[in-house]
Amino acid sequence: MRNSSPSLQGGLGGQNIIIFASGAGSNALEIIRRLHLVAEKQVKVALIVTNNPSAGVLNIAREHGIPSLVIEKERFFRGDGYLPELSAHDPRLLVLAGFLWKVPNSLIEAYPRSIINIHPALLPKYGGKGMYGDHVHKAVIGAGEKESGITIHYVDGHYDNGDIIFQARCPVEPGDTPSSLSKRIHQLEHRHFAEVIEKLLQN
Ligand code: GAR
Repeated sequence: MRNSSPSLQGGLGGQNIIIFASGAGSNALEIIRRLHLVAEKQVKVALIVTNNPSAGVLNIAREHGIPSLVIEKERFFRGDGYLPELSAHDPRLLVLAGFLWKVPNSLIEAYPRSIINIHPALLPKYGGKGMYGDHVHKAVIGAGEKESGITIHYVDGHYDNGDIIFQARCPVEPGDTPSSLSKRIHQLEHRHFAEVIEKLLQN
């Protein structure tokens, strides 16, 4: 599915997804706009989960009438992983859209090959613990890379490690700063993420 532009026919059979996000939530918003708000697509963002009580994504949830859940470390990592709240929505996919906590094994086992993440670089380069947001773009620019991109992958028990589903590339321009590169990467994410999710839901 690399760099493909799936064209979609028909509805997706009333499937639910859950979005996990820690920050502004621009990817979450784009997914809502392109899947949840389009009646014919029949994809429902059933729940938005965040670890950050002041995350912008909570405003997005509120504005769209989507239920949200703020999670706490102890229960997420050493308790039941909030499985009762998640499974109540019968999700077909858990979508990590800028979610900065690792996913506990309890959830990986409960949702095999059903948790996906978007990463703002071309994995396997520039992934791993501490590699998120501008830290990634800083490292890419610092290494003198001529291109960067996005990776959408399945989530396993390690940071940024599961099987790759999709990648798309963009140039790193001379004079780029982490902020200018981040803008280009976000555009790429907004162009492709919803489409890839839709394609996965069709399979
Ligand atoms: C996105 O660029 C996403 O790829 C990145 O966080 C940003 C979230 O932006 N994720 C990671 O770095 C995960 N390692 P958003 O809140 O505007 O969607």
